[in-house]
Amino acid sequence: MESPKFLYLQTFGCQMNVSDSEKIASLLAGVGYELTEESAAADLIILNTCTVRAKAEERVYRQLENLRPLKRKKPALLFGVGGCVAQQEGERLLEKIPYLDLVFGTHNLHRIPQIVLAAEEGRRLAEVDFIDNETRMGLFPVDDRSGGVTRFVTVMQGCDNYCSYCIVPYVRGREISRRSADIVAEIRLMAANGVKEVTLLGQNVNSYGLNDPGQPDFAGLLRMVAAIDGIERIRFTTSHPKDITRPLIDCFAELPKLCAHIHLPAQAGSSAVLARMNRGYTRPEYMEKVADLRSVRPDIAITSDIIVGFPGETEEDFTETLSLVEETGYSDIFSFLYSQRPGTAAADFDGDLPYDMKVERLDRLMAIQKKITRRYSEALVGTVQEVLVEGASKRTGQVFGRTTYNRIVNFDGDISLVGRLVDVEIIEGYQNSQLGRLV
Ligand code: SAH
Ligand code: SF4
Ligand code: F3S
Repeated sequence: MESPKFLYLQTFGCQMNVSDSEKIASLLAGVGYELTEESAAADLIILNTCTVRAKAEERVYRQLENLRPLKRKKPALLFGVGGCVAQQEGERLLEKIPYLDLVFGTHNLHRIPQIVLAAEEGRRLAEVDFIDNETRMGLFPVDDRSGGVTRFVTVMQGCDNYCSYCIVPYVRGREISRRSADIVAEIRLMAANGVKEVTLLGQNVNSYGLNDPGQPDFAGLLRMVAAIDGIERIRFTTSHPKDITRPLIDCFAELPKLCAHIHLPAQAGSSAVLARMNRGYTRPEYMEKVADLRSVRPDIAITSDIIVGFPGETEEDFTETLSLVEETGYSDIFSFLYSQRPGTAAADFDGDLPYDMKVERLDRLMAIQKKITRRYSEALVGTVQEVLVEGASKRTGQVFGRTTYNRIVNFDGDISLVGRLVDVEIIEGYQNSQLGRLV
């Protein structure tokens, strides 16, 4: 018998990449690679990469340099780069990085066993061609039996929105929705293996099915998933505000399994900036969607992404972002400094702001949100929340899970609670988590 080969797989970027990494690991298991946590033990190192901001891209090159000494010690060690930097750079990566052995793009995951086998024989390949939708649709595995409490399920890939700052449409390709029957089959299998919560995943889940008359729309898909026995909670991410429909809002009123949380990235608070971002909604339209959601689910937790320092952003524009954040009362936000990305429309816009000004604005935004998050977290003290227990906390004797609002709660409890929905009284509200007591 051949001795096992070890794969060290490091994932950068969004949930889409996390989900792709699961597929990479399972495909490579088929050709004899076992996952290892130790880079020094590896026969193959793969970085599944992100390029959404310049910093994310730089991190990849830095990490390759960090790992490079391993190759001096073990010349047979193979280095691979996949994901969004691979898609962006393609063949050029092999030229830039002489010790790199293989490159595969976001549409070429299914080819990874062949690419790795070629690398084992000393051939350096870069496969980054986009493939057609029919082929792509057939490539999602539906035989995952690995279980777990909460899992991500890809329902669509790619993005057609072309927000002017964003590189994702270029590195992920056109939008494509999976067949609803395949999604339901995959989730049924997960439920049979003990999964209690699924998060439906896509760059813009709200436009699910819109390109394909044979498929339900996203609200229809949610109803199909809600009908699956054993699945107790449903989440989804990410939602584009322009595509929030009445039927989707009704789901929050009518589907008890649908958690009371939505990630609804606003990106900016000024309608003028939103127009230049090509977001497809104005500030009042965004606020109307928020009001509609709250009218059917008054307690819904809303989170957001905000970009600070978009080209031409004036102090007035930025003040509007601050006021939008305060008016919406997000339970939390992710905030980013605008980063110019090659090939995007905004890369040609005038009005790039000085770095210090961007940082100063980001600090102001973060300080305001910090207070709002803290207040939000503390306001729930004294309430009893249903928590789906996911695992052991860092502190011994404690377990953690999330409330319907997607906030982490730690509480004293036994590991046997993992996978169960339990009632927990919130006793402390912190910035990033809450402390509870089992009732
Ligand atoms: N499809 C999702 C997520 C895309 S990437 C969505 O539309 O919300 C995640 C976040 O990164 C975006 O929401 C945006 O806030 C941020 N982002 C994308 N491109 C960026 C850029 N060039 N500079 C700074 N932040 C960016
Ligand atoms: Fe990027 Fe906009 Fe698509 Fe999100 S919706 S992935 S921000 S282009
Ligand atoms: Fe990054 Fe690619 Fe996701 S650029 S955010 S890993 S789609």
